[in-house]
Amino acid sequence: MPMIREVIVTTIDPAGEAHLAPLGLIEAGDGWIIAPFRPSTTLDNLARVPFAVANYIDDARVFAGLVTGRRDWPLVPARQSPAPRLACALAHAELAVARIEKHAERPRFHCEVLHREQHAPFEGFNRARNAVLEGAILISRLHMLPREKIDQEIAYLSIAIEKTAGAAEREAWSWLMQKRDAFYASK
Ligand SMILES: Cc1cc2nc3c(=O)[nH]c(=O)nc-3n(C[C@H](O)[C@H](O)[C@H](O)COP(=O)(O)O)c2cc1C
Repeated sequence: MPMIREVIVTTIDPAGEAHLAPLGLIEAGDGWIIAPFRPSTTLDNLARVPFAVANYIDDARVFAGLVTGRRDWPLVPARQSPAPRLACALAHAELAVARIEKHAERPRFHCEVLHREQHAPFEGFNRARNAVLEGAILISRLHMLPREKIDQEIAYLSIAIEKTAGAAEREAWSWLMQKRDAFYASK
């Protein structure tokens, strides 16, 4: 299995409107494959404007924010991609779609790297950030997963939050828990 890197992908529509989505980029030699399930704004954007930016971030609030409807994260222009990058990215890669593997549910956009840039140092792993990332994936699949699995995994991930979170990770976790509670309250 190829390595998958969890990033925030920025794309634009033909009018230049930017879209942000947490996605797993699939390693493919020197490039990356973006594989969004339909329906997806990222997919529609890539089909029409074949550029993207992979934003490598350590602010877990962006992952939690995007899966809980908080979409307003500051952007700045990229160098060679018309899609912008996140202002908070530690580093980013500008991508151009080289080939599209068609598929009814999950087309694969094979991308080559046009440009890479580093903005800030990576200062080490943090268990709570990882827990927020895992929690964001769970919350994005609430409608697909049994409640028992969600409850078990949230209970395990909460340990890392309690033991190792800073203020940003606690805020990100609270957004995820609010969304989980609202989802089950509406059942
Ligand atoms: C860390 C993380 C990784 C994800 N990876 C994928 C992915 O590889 N493919 C996918 O279709 N959705 C993935 N998702 C869910 C998408 O972010 C979510 O469906 C999003 O709304 C994409 O649709 P959009 O392009 O319409 O924004 C991921 C979510 C998280 C939190």
